[in-house]
Amino acid sequence: MTTIVMTGGTSGLGLVAAGRLASTPGVRLLLGGRRPGPDGVDVLPLDLARLDDVRRFAAAVGSRVGDDGIEALVLNAGLALRSADTRTADGFETTFAVNHLAHYLLVRLLTPRLAPHAVVVLTTSGTHDPAEKAPIRPPRHAEARLLADPALDPDRDPAPRRAGQHAYTASKLCAVLTARGLAARGVTAYAYDPGPTPGTGLSRDYSPAMRLAWSVLGGPTGRLLPRLSRPADAGATLADLALGRAAPPADGSYARLRRGALTWADPSDLARDDAVRDRLWADSAGLLGLTT
Ligand SMILES: NC(=O)c1ccc[n+]([C@@H]2O[C@H](COP(=O)([O-])OP(=O)(O)OC[C@H]3O[C@@H](n4cnc5c(N)ncnc54)[C@H](OP(=O)(O)O)[C@@H]3O)[C@@H](O)[C@H]2O)c1
Repeated sequence: MTTIVMTGGTSGLGLVAAGRLASTPGVRLLLGGRRPGPDGVDVLPLDLARLDDVRRFAAAVGSRVGDDGIEALVLNAGLALRSADTRTADGFETTFAVNHLAHYLLVRLLTPRLAPHAVVVLTTSGTHDPAEKAPIRPPRHAEARLLADPALDPDRDPAPRRAGQHAYTASKLCAVLTARGLAARGVTAYAYDPGPTPGTGLSRDYSPAMRLAWSVLGGPTGRLLPRLSRPADAGATLADLALGRAAPPADGSYARLRRGALTWADPSDLARDDAVRDRLWADSAGLLGLTT
């Protein structure tokens, strides 16, 4: 039996991926979440905005994983907020806390449980890369302490909406850097950009106009725009990555879905910077009271 552990399988492209994983013969899916997932899949309670919940989830997973270990860890959950003003119960900016810090903690807690040839997949976004010229604020840095408390950032965006965008794109930069941090420690890890995928729940905190546009683009209109991914394709590709069905080049750690096809590419300049990678790893550990 192949054990796959996943976050973010209760909505959007992750719901598609979780459904495919759960229906793959020989796979046991351990899904963490706040509400029901695909039919027939038990969801272990997990609110990534609460680090105690993350620790409880990791313990629950540990008690269910046998000697074979975890074959794939799929860290797909994510949110995008209208500002960077909210804080979790632990005191961290919410987007950074949910999208990066909670997943980093899960990685640290579950790495000892990984099977020898396990794969870790973190869902990132092309918006982490300024070269993609996405219509939202690109990340200026991946400084964990500034992302955890953007009020300390001397160059923070005064406009809340822009600050919220920065929190999101920076958290997605952190996902690429975490994948590279794992790779540097001998773990097979990929950051996966599903491409712009309207119609998912990611717009839930946006303005009503933006939510409407997101939902329209997620319907037949969006299919006329080949740059957009469909949740069905984006989710199926995520499942393929977890199942080892999307063979990367030897040094591949960043995969992008574009026009329905998966390509391996270089992530942004910041994402390729080893000093930035190592500082994020160490500072994230510091915020959590872990050793590097
Ligand atoms: N859609 C895009 O255009 C796009 C592009 C690039 C990257 N991405 C990334 O793709 C991933 C999936 O996003 P999506 O577009 O499919 O959005 P979505 O439909 O909103 O799915 C997000 C998933 O994350 C979970 N989640 C959010 N906050 C959580 C928390 N505090 N605790 C536990 N789970 C939490 C959600 O759980 P609930 O069901 O409980 O809310 C849901 O399962 C995200 O990482 C996103 O950044 C999306």
